[in-house]
Amino acid sequence: MSAPLIIINFKVYNEGFGQNAHRIAAAAEEVSEESGVRIGVAPNFMEIHPMSNHFRIPVYAQHVDGVAPGASTGHILAGAVRAAGAFGTLINHSERRLTLADIEAAVEAAQAARLETVVCTNNAPTSAAAASFAPDYIAIEPPKLIGTGVSVSRADPDIIEGSVQAVHAVNPEVKVLTGAGISTGEDVKIALDLGTSGVLLASGVVKAGDPAKVLRDLVSLI
Ligand code: G3P
Repeated sequence: MSAPLIIINFKVYNEGFGQNAHRIAAAAEEVSEESGVRIGVAPNFMEIHPMSNHFRIPVYAQHVDGVAPGASTGHILAGAVRAAGAFGTLINHSERRLTLADIEAAVEAAQAARLETVVCTNNAPTSAAAASFAPDYIAIEPPKLIGTGVSVSRADPDIIEGSVQAVHAVNPEVKVLTGAGISTGEDVKIALDLGTSGVLLASGVVKAGDPAKVLRDLVSLI
């Protein structure tokens, strides 16, 4: 069993910009250091460089494109994200969906740039397809539960177990994260008990009045 990972996705919430982003990342670093649990942050693109400079916790991009350096205006280059200090990247978040071919290209580009890869999926079959590209992680997130505060760990444990089985049938090296509605230590414990290696969450921490308090609860049963 790999060491648990918690990734906080700041999305483009107002609470995840500027000083607010700094406050959440500082809380994540403090709780990570006191608990020993690996906690990463996925801020908006403009914050990748300042966050990587300022904090020791891993910083993830929210997306990269599978393009090579050259004439691709408006795309996000994996190498540039890496050069800005990112440790890894999300790919195919349900709010930034890609075609299967684009996911493959993005994973290849991220791997070539030595970024840890976290491919988001919405069910067991897409998880299996994504596993064939050998990312580091698959994050299974049923879209209907995202941002609801209703934890997928409790509301739909079957989709988690089914995805873990589907992923490991394709490639046992690929780790799985649980996402959507996660907000408590109990949600994290259930996710780990279902065979996943951690959680990907957003609103439960980003919109919290006291992010450090929520983070301490999240790691409390690991
Ligand atoms: O990337 C995390 C995500 O989509 C889940 O969001 O707000 O339900 O934790 P949330």
